[in-house]
Amino acid sequence: MPLVAPSILSANFLCLKDDIEMINNSEADWFHIDVMDGRFVPNISFGMPIIKAMKKLGKKTFDVHLMIVEPEKYFEDFKNAGADILTVHYEASTHLHRSLQAIKALGMQAGVSLNPHTPVSVLEDVIKDIDLVLIMSVNPGFGGQKFISQAINKVKKLKAMITEAGADTLIEIDGGVTLENAGELVAAGVDVLVAGNTVFSSQDPADTIKKLKQAGK
Ligand code: DX5
Ligand code: ZN
Repeated sequence: MPLVAPSILSANFLCLKDDIEMINNSEADWFHIDVMDGRFVPNISFGMPIIKAMKKLGKKTFDVHLMIVEPEKYFEDFKNAGADILTVHYEASTHLHRSLQAIKALGMQAGVSLNPHTPVSVLEDVIKDIDLVLIMSVNPGFGGQKFISQAINKVKKLKAMITEAGADTLIEIDGGVTLENAGELVAAGVDVLVAGNTVFSSQDPADTIKKLKQAGK
């Protein structure tokens, strides 16, 4: 069964408490938390104070996706805010290997995200140091966009790379995940499905999460 990580970006911020409780009581595995700075991506979302507040109520793993420049400046702040998994973008990390070690030294799991144009081969020499690779299947910055189908080939290539290296890196897919494409994604090798719009714009978000858990069966 895939892990399912609903993206808080699509939650109702006026009633965030209700949405956190819905996730707590659902079959979801993680909270996917998108941090945007208006520089790495053309949008600004939220930062540490919101994550810190969420942590008081959220009972599942906090999977924090940093879409920010110079992420290394804030690793400790995100740890203190409650991040369990901290994912940086390859494109924003000049010293990726150093960043991975720094995230782990703080007691978090270390993730790396790839934009749609970035090939998975750039991770070949660090794959064993990475707990999670997040494949962006839309251009980062906004929820509710259309899935870029080339991402499926990237998942397959990444899966082969992980197997060949004997690594236990998880593959997460983020952007445009629907009940229609989730099965194919899991079959291609995806371990973690992120879903924002699909979960939060559905009539029954908890039931949609349950259906995503069944993807690939
Ligand atoms: C986009 C974010 C995603 C976003 C996904 O930059 O990284 O996590 O919330 O939203 P959907 O599932 O609606 O495409
Ligand atoms: Zn994300």
